[in-house]
Parts: sequence; C-alpha cells; structure tokens
Amino acid sequence: MSSTKTAIVTGANKGIGLAIVRQLALQWPTSPFAASGSALTIYLTARNAPRGEEALKTLQSDPQLHEARALASQGGKSEIKYATLDISDDASIKSFVEDIKTTHPEGIDYVISNAGIAMTGFDEKVVKETLGCNYFGYDHKHSWRALRSRLTPHLARSK
Ligand SMILES: NC(=O)c1ccc[n+]([C@@H]2O[C@H](COP(=O)([O-])OP(=O)(O)OC[C@H]3O[C@@H](n4cnc5c(N)ncnc54)[C@H](OP(=O)(O)O)[C@@H]3O)[C@@H](O)[C@H]2O)c1
Repeated sequence: MSSTKTAIVTGANKGIGLAIVRQLALQWPTSPFAASGSALTIYLTARNAPRGEEALKTLQSDPQLHEARALASQGGKSEIKYATLDISDDASIKSFVEDIKTTHPEGIDYVISNAGIAMTGFDEKVVKETLGCNYFGYDHKHSWRALRSRLTPHLARSK
C-alpha cells in the first residue's frame, strides 16, 4: 500500500540539519521504510524565514537531487516544505505544532531534533545559554523539550 510519511527536521537551514534534509530526500526511495512505495514529505524548519526559504531554494536547484529525480517536482518521491520553528520560542513551537496537526491529522512519522547552538567562549552566560537551548530549554519551558512534549502525542507510531 502506498502512503505518504512525514518527517520534521529542526535547525535545517544550514549545517548538519540541511544535510539531513538533503540525504532524506536523496535516500528515501532506497530506504527500507519506503519499501511499500510510500512518498516522504520533509519539513525543513528554521527559526529565520529568509534563511530557511533560501535553504529550500538551494535544495530545489541541487544538481544531485535533480539527477536522481528525488523531488516530487522532478517526478520523485520526496517533497520538501519550509516551516518556521524556533525551538527557544514557545509561541513559535505552539504555532508550528498546531499547523502540523491541522495539515497532518494522521500524525507525523519522524522528528530529527537537530537545532542547537554552539556559542564562542566559555563563561557562566555561555554555559547557561548553551545548556538552556540544547538541553534544558530556557527557563525549563521552551526548547526541544517543549517541542518534544507537544509533538510526541502526534507521532503516528506512538499511538
Ligand atoms: N558540528 C559538530 O561537530 C557537532 C558536534 C556535536 C554536536 N553537534 C550538534 O549538531 C547540531 C547541528 O550542528 P551543526 O554543526 O550543523 O551546527 P550549525 O551549522 O551551527 O547549525 C545549527 C542550526 O541550528 C539552528 N538553530 C540554533 N538555535 C535555534 C533555535 N533556537 N531554533 C531553531 N533553530 C535553531 C541554526 O539556525 P541559525 O542559522 O538561525 O542560527 C542552524 O540552522 C547542533 O545541535 C550541534 O550542537 C554538532
């Protein structure tokens, strides 16, 4: 049976996150998870819309993706969409999750929690902000923990 799976990648406008989106699109057709011929919708998310949209454009004109006919617009199985998501901003998390729930009432399949910061230097502020964003969440409310707690009930396989 053919269906569409949904993946979310955070902090995907550059670096490892962007590479993950690209490789998901490229390798999806040969993945065991796509054995039933299913398609994949990948949300490339970023906290900054111009940077995120620019990253999406880069992938849409990527020669290797084009050659492999990876993207739906090229006849492939993967579709990449941009969405704004700042994992340190509770309003951004709420808005993103609400949109995802509306667009994908069937649930989502994969979340790659990649977004993070690596600040320069080493002092109390750097340690606090780095651990705050990457692990605890600012004031223990925001960041990936908040995203995880809001998204987990909507994970298709967690039901
Ligand atoms: N590269 C390494 O050797 C290495 C080693 C260990 C762990 N990691 C971890 O792997 C992840 C990716 O690393 P990388 O080298 O690709 O880092 P990177 O090039 O600095 O990219 C980090 C990404 O996270 C985004 N981001 C930061 N804070 C965010 C927030 N509050 N909300 C949403 N997005 C946010 C950045 O967006 P902006 O462009 O807007 O800043 C960027 O897209 C990070 O979590 C990093 O800590 C990396």
